[in-house]
Amino acid sequence: MKRVFLETYGCQMNVADSELMAGVLQRAGMEMVERAEDADAVILNTCAIREHAELRVLGRLGEFAHLKSKNPALIVGVAGCMAQHLRKRLLDQKRVLDLVVGPDGYRDLPALLQRAANVPTAEIRLDRDETYGDLEPKRQPGVRAWVTVQRGCDKFCTYCVVPYTRGRERSLPLADLVRQVESAAAQGFCEIVFLGQTVNSYHDGTHDFADLLRAASAVPGVLRVRYTSPHPSDMSERVIAAMAECDKVMPHVHLPLQSGSDAILEAMQRTYSITQFEDVLGRIRAQIPGVAVTTDVIVGFPGESDADFEATRAFMQRARFDSAFLFKYSARPDTRAYKLAETVDETEKGRRLQVLIDEQHAISGEIMDGYLNRTIEVLVDGPSNRGKADQPPQLYGKSREFKTVVWPDDGSPAGTLQQVKIVGTTHLTLLGESVGTPRPEPLITIGVS
Ligand code: SAH
Ligand code: SF4
Ligand code: F3S
Repeated sequence: MKRVFLETYGCQMNVADSELMAGVLQRAGMEMVERAEDADAVILNTCAIREHAELRVLGRLGEFAHLKSKNPALIVGVAGCMAQHLRKRLLDQKRVLDLVVGPDGYRDLPALLQRAANVPTAEIRLDRDETYGDLEPKRQPGVRAWVTVQRGCDKFCTYCVVPYTRGRERSLPLADLVRQVESAAAQGFCEIVFLGQTVNSYHDGTHDFADLLRAASAVPGVLRVRYTSPHPSDMSERVIAAMAECDKVMPHVHLPLQSGSDAILEAMQRTYSITQFEDVLGRIRAQIPGVAVTTDVIVGFPGESDADFEATRAFMQRARFDSAFLFKYSARPDTRAYKLAETVDETEKGRRLQVLIDEQHAISGEIMDGYLNRTIEVLVDGPSNRGKADQPPQLYGKSREFKTVVWPDDGSPAGTLQQVKIVGTTHLTLLGESVGTPRPEPLITIGVS
């Protein structure tokens, strides 16, 4: 078996895990291919966060069943959170599957694939010591490197499957992470994004997340440092101060709210009240000038009354987040909330979701309009794929606040910081024009690995 096709679903942690798997497979002499049709083995790296995520993967497995009927030697594997969540049930139910491997089983992936060629194989043990800290990932080309600083989650929010799919929280040693950042910077990645389910609870026994932010921003070649997702209860003064003081740590915080009602926050066991969330938000905004704050919200949690929903709505009007990921509650087997009777039907969940979407679009649009006529620093990602064939070529990149900026291609190389004047907006995108002449040469080379 030589050629492996790997497809990724879910959050950035899964994207980073796929890069880890690709590194493990390549070191074992395997080759990553772009098309499932060209592969000896296909692996889906899956997500279990909402039912919809699992249904998508089951649909995709149906397509692989078709492929396998034409090529019976094809190995089909499911990795990631859904693999861990459904475990052996997946092997039993889906004849097409040869391998089920959970998030702590990637170290031995080549051997597991070989074994799966002979006998259906499941590796679904969670290992509270596995951090993969010693394994070099095979990073996708680009300007951004994802660095997982912590695995697992100990928060057990009552709706959430992650503590069951990824096991207990564990942090990598700071020295190992600094080495990873140095290695990524040496390969030409100039933006580092630290990842963890509650990334700001990072602690390696000696150093906390503030130490890590400061250490990363001092690595030569690193232009920008970001992270996702912090938990509001772990947002210490030290982390806020590190953000405020380090120019290379970007002014963007993704701070998941989940609900604007104290009763629902309590039922979710989020460990903070609305007053406490507002306090954290206030301190972030007071100390980090121009900071963008984005969030996640769930509507229709069991017991969410009209009044609870209106409290969320009112809070979002008050908080004025830059943007928000808005979700309908999805009951997940194994979680504590799964045992609660659902009280908000699908139609009403849909209505509540739409109200929040419409109101948030308006707020996001107003915040974007605040950028009009300003000249801002943008890290160039490269040619915009949104450009239509009949339109002049465009570039895209990210502002310091992680807003997408699109402007006419002025030859600015990917991986450089450029000044762009904002001349138009949508609620999602800033439209710009370039200022000054671009540098003739890239400062660094991008994505060589
Ligand atoms: N660790 C991150 C969240 C990871 S999951 C944090 O705690 O902030 C990303 C988002 O998915 C969550 O913030 C939540 O809004 C949403 N989510 C998680 N479980 C869900 C469920 N069962 N139904 C609907 N949305 C859910
Ligand atoms: Fe899930 Fe809560 Fe952990 Fe986030 S903090 S991953 S929502 S249990
Ligand atoms: Fe999904 Fe697992 Fe991430 S459940 S959101 S892929 S941690």
